[in-house]
Amino acid sequence: MSFRGIIIVLSLFVLGIAFSGFASYSQTIVTPHSEVTIDGKKLAQQNCASCHGKDLKGDAGPNLHEKGALLTEETIAQIIHDGVNGKMPPMGGGGLKNDKEVAAVAKYITSLGESK
Ligand code: HEC
Repeated sequence: MSFRGIIIVLSLFVLGIAFSGFASYSQTIVTPHSEVTIDGKKLAQQNCASCHGKDLKGDAGPNLHEKGALLTEETIAQIIHDGVNGKMPPMGGGGLKNDKEVAAVAKYITSLGESK
């Protein structure tokens, strides 16, 4: 192979590495987007099930399937945000970090009401 041939092969090799590096870099930017969705069901299981029961069908606290059918999303969000007269701690006892998480849980609770 000529010297020129070696140079061409070498530059193709370097380009290949640069491109594969770019490809994996663009992947790391894309991944977090798919994790942005807040999982209301998971948050409810983590923050509400301890008092409202494993399936949220009632334990120390009332059955949330019934409450989901009775109350609006806004009302439930308000209840989660403020708690209930010292009987239920606000923000799922501190497990919920912001209004978006509260809203996601509230939406999930109303969906329980519909699935009855
Ligand atoms: C430490 C225990 C505890 C946790 C944790 C808890 N709750 Fe409660 N919750 C209660 C109790 C007790 C009541 C009943 C209060 C009462 O007697 O009026 C209640 C009542 C409610 C009500 C009905 C209020 C009404 O006015 O009828 C809703 C809705 C509710 N909880 C949702 C949730 C959601 C959603 C979560 C998770 C983010 C949660 N709770 C976490 C104990 C808890």
